[in-house]
Amino acid sequence: MLKVSRRNLLLGGAAIVGVSALMSKPGDKSGPRDPYFLDVQQALTRAGIATPTLVIDRARLNANIDTLVGHLPDGMGYRIVAKSLPSLALIEHIRGRANTDRLMTFNQPMLTALSQAMPEASQLLGKPLPVQAARNYFGSLDETTAPAAERVQWLIDSNARLAQYSQLASALGQSLQINIELDVGLHRGGFEPGADLQTALESIRADASLEFAGFMGYEPHIPALPTTLGWRDKALSGAWKKYQGALDQASEVFGAEAIANLTRNAAGSPTYRYYETTEIANEISAGSCLVKPTHFDSELLEPHQPASFIATPVIKSLPTTRMPGLEFADGAKRTWDPNYNKTVFIYGGHWLADPVDPPGLSYNSTFGRSSNQEMLNGGPDLDIAADEFVFFRPHQSEAVFLQFGDIAVYEDGEIVDTWPVFEASA
Ligand SMILES: Cc1ncc(COP(=O)(O)O)c(C=O)c1O
Repeated sequence: MLKVSRRNLLLGGAAIVGVSALMSKPGDKSGPRDPYFLDVQQALTRAGIATPTLVIDRARLNANIDTLVGHLPDGMGYRIVAKSLPSLALIEHIRGRANTDRLMTFNQPMLTALSQAMPEASQLLGKPLPVQAARNYFGSLDETTAPAAERVQWLIDSNARLAQYSQLASALGQSLQINIELDVGLHRGGFEPGADLQTALESIRADASLEFAGFMGYEPHIPALPTTLGWRDKALSGAWKKYQGALDQASEVFGAEAIANLTRNAAGSPTYRYYETTEIANEISAGSCLVKPTHFDSELLEPHQPASFIATPVIKSLPTTRMPGLEFADGAKRTWDPNYNKTVFIYGGHWLADPVDPPGLSYNSTFGRSSNQEMLNGGPDLDIAADEFVFFRPHQSEAVFLQFGDIAVYEDGEIVDTWPVFEASA
């Protein structure tokens, strides 16, 4: 007997969707190459580049920096998220153009490297580090880099960690600046207004070796929420209410005047455009939106342009797609899906990235992924020869940028510079 349950309906629905998906023949996505990528390809060839390479378009990067800075209200600081822009030269370029000396740092090797290269910069930890990592950082300093440590704000998410940092400060005989991580709705840890926060604030006030530097409240979940029933607006006003509650508590403990100059950090690329006044935050941090990987293709970030690409040479360009051991099905598959007609094997692959040029390229899930020579398929109009370049957009920057050696900087039709990246570390 047929039981009409919610589950059956769902399964039935899925079957109908599945059948209709089978019924609609995929359209041909191949076509002429984008002149923009042909120009970058020529520049790479002229520069003698023939390995997978991360390319940054400096004009687009600059436009993105100007877009970000242009959005900031009076008095709003900008903190560069170093992990999303993992190259000293790239960070230096952004510092100059955005006129900021604030950095957000996420691991101990990067903290040390930035202290050496930019001792005058302020660094706020973007995640709480184990106290041993902080101890190791102090161990890595020398006379020239020691002053940089005075401009580090250590992020603290719990009273237990605060006690550890208090002990470290006593052991070092040095005052440490403490920034308190707030949970404004992301639920990735940190304090909410209330008794624990009160204990933390009072402990800092009572501890001569700790200095209260401010708060950090990150809320990237908000733009991902549906707008239905005002969910997104509610989450944003809820986040700001929590932030305000923490500020009020700090004001009671330290006095309104003492907190006037605190670091009140908020936002990230997905949310910085929500901040149109300095009522809650007095600085925003962002990094990814300056190079705009695909994860940052959002409505709010529409004014930003993709400025980073992976370029990799084609090793083999083949006129037909042939699957090992399944050759008998190749013809039918080609007839059904024109995007399967042709094949290129590229130099390297298996990156967190999507192919964008030539148009219509896709991975072949049956053949599988490869870090050595990855297969990509394309339609009848795919026109690319061996040694020409395929271009991808990375999904994210922080890990992907570290996989290619020096970044190739593209501007005015040429590769004009190379920017070394940080060593991969966590
Ligand atoms: C605390 C904090 N602030 C800001 C950011 C924003 O970085 P991005 O602008 O690169 O998304 C992050 C990213 O992970 C973060 O963890």
